[in-house]
Amino acid sequence: MVVKKICCVGAGYVGGPTCSVIALKCPEIHVTVVDLSKSRIDQWNSDKLPIYEPGLDEIVKQCRGRNLFFSTDIETAILEADLIFISVNTPTKTIGNGKGRAPDLKYVEGAARMIAEIAQSDKIVVEKSTVPVRAAESILKILSANQKPGVSYQILSNPEFLAEGTAINDLINADRVLIGGEESPKGKAAIEELCGIYEHWIPREKIFTTNTWSSELSKLAANAMLAQRISSINSLSAVCEATGADVSEVATAVGLDSRIGSKFLQASIGGSCFQKDILNLVYICECLNLPEVAAYWQQVVDMNEYQKSRFTAKVIQSLFNTVSGKTVTILGFAFKKNTGDTRETPAIHVAKTLLDEGATLKIYDPKVEEDQIYYDLTHPAVCESPETVKKAISVYHDAYSACENSHAIVLCTEWDEFKTLDYHKIYHVMMKPAYVFDGRKILDHQTLIDIGFHVQTIGKTLQRPLLTRFCGGNTCMH
Ligand code: NAI
Repeated sequence: MVVKKICCVGAGYVGGPTCSVIALKCPEIHVTVVDLSKSRIDQWNSDKLPIYEPGLDEIVKQCRGRNLFFSTDIETAILEADLIFISVNTPTKTIGNGKGRAPDLKYVEGAARMIAEIAQSDKIVVEKSTVPVRAAESILKILSANQKPGVSYQILSNPEFLAEGTAINDLINADRVLIGGEESPKGKAAIEELCGIYEHWIPREKIFTTNTWSSELSKLAANAMLAQRISSINSLSAVCEATGADVSEVATAVGLDSRIGSKFLQASIGGSCFQKDILNLVYICECLNLPEVAAYWQQVVDMNEYQKSRFTAKVIQSLFNTVSGKTVTILGFAFKKNTGDTRETPAIHVAKTLLDEGATLKIYDPKVEEDQIYYDLTHPAVCESPETVKKAISVYHDAYSACENSHAIVLCTEWDEFKTLDYHKIYHVMMKPAYVFDGRKILDHQTLIDIGFHVQTIGKTLQRPLLTRFCGGNTCMH
């Protein structure tokens, strides 16, 4: 088989950008991205794409209608495809066994059942969604149990390592592409087919092939280890605040060790898109009766939660222990810059806590839609009284109006535009004393202090306290 037509089930943050890049790099391959959501597909076919990702618009404009198509006609796309990516969502279960930890595989199963029902010819089915180890076995079971005569399937694991905000660059200049498959001649042939697609732009030495289970586990392991670095530096940020050390200096000093490296050592407010994948790993370890391993990775998640609560507690404490009746500006609502995605964003935690304490919130994010902010903050998992919350929040379209008459600014997302705001102008329209809580460590703190702001950040005490600590019974000065 030579792959001429690809179908991607799921037109989300992974399916859309990944298939756009495949279409760009493989002009001879016809790529159709399908989704159950008509509104999402309509957006992919419009001038305003459903997701914001630097560089994505240009690629979609170049390829859409040529060899890239977005459609709700799932049946035709599956029937015609030689290779099908499953890129559907795998959120954490909210009910039943494994609630709050295990991934909900209903969308993956749904996609597999659709393929089984529709397919009339051989297909390579590629698991791109992040799934638990051995999920490919479940997909194969569903496909085999519903197999039509003469139709055969090969299942591959090809996890996606892109990061939102840099997805296009990550896809075009991938550190590696990982493909796992069956160790049989047919499995190897399917792996070669998928390699052939990536080889249009990825050097062969960066395409790593493994058995299916190694590939599935590697995705969870990579995310767990990235999150572990963030939790490690965040844990040290608390030590820095208590001792007068500066976490940025510590991170630089530590990162200069070539065994450690400097990437992913930026302390911040917490919040992580890795959470669901680590919880997935924790759940797998529990099911495998490996409680010590489960507890080890659980601590990475717990540290992330601790960081969010610690930061929010600091905000409240600094505002004289009460925000009731006060107005707080939230700058940034997305979980990171250069994306409009709010899943797992620390801004939700900060906003919820401040709302629970009686604050009024003024919120601004350059890319998150107003409806999304209202949806996130009135979701039943976050609030009991949507009407009260709606009255207490307002969403703005620029940072300056969001700061007017506010007692404090809490910076939750590291958008570049926040670095260059006119803070003199902002100071003059705020209530006094005016506070800035920089949850991302991106602002020039000294300049803000010189303007008159009270400034707090992560991992650095701006007014150095006089410290005396007791270590192991001996008094020592830090
Ligand atoms: P998403 O929620 O943005 O998109 C998933 C899409 O699948 C939705 O539009 C949904 O309507 C659609 N869908 C669900 N069931 C369907 C079905 N049976 N037929 C057709 N469409 C269906 O999710 P996202 O962020 O793209 O993630 C997809 C997978 O990739 C997840 O497993 C995620 O963990 C993984 N991943 C995500 C990354 C990210 O940065 N967002 C990075 C790497 C992996």
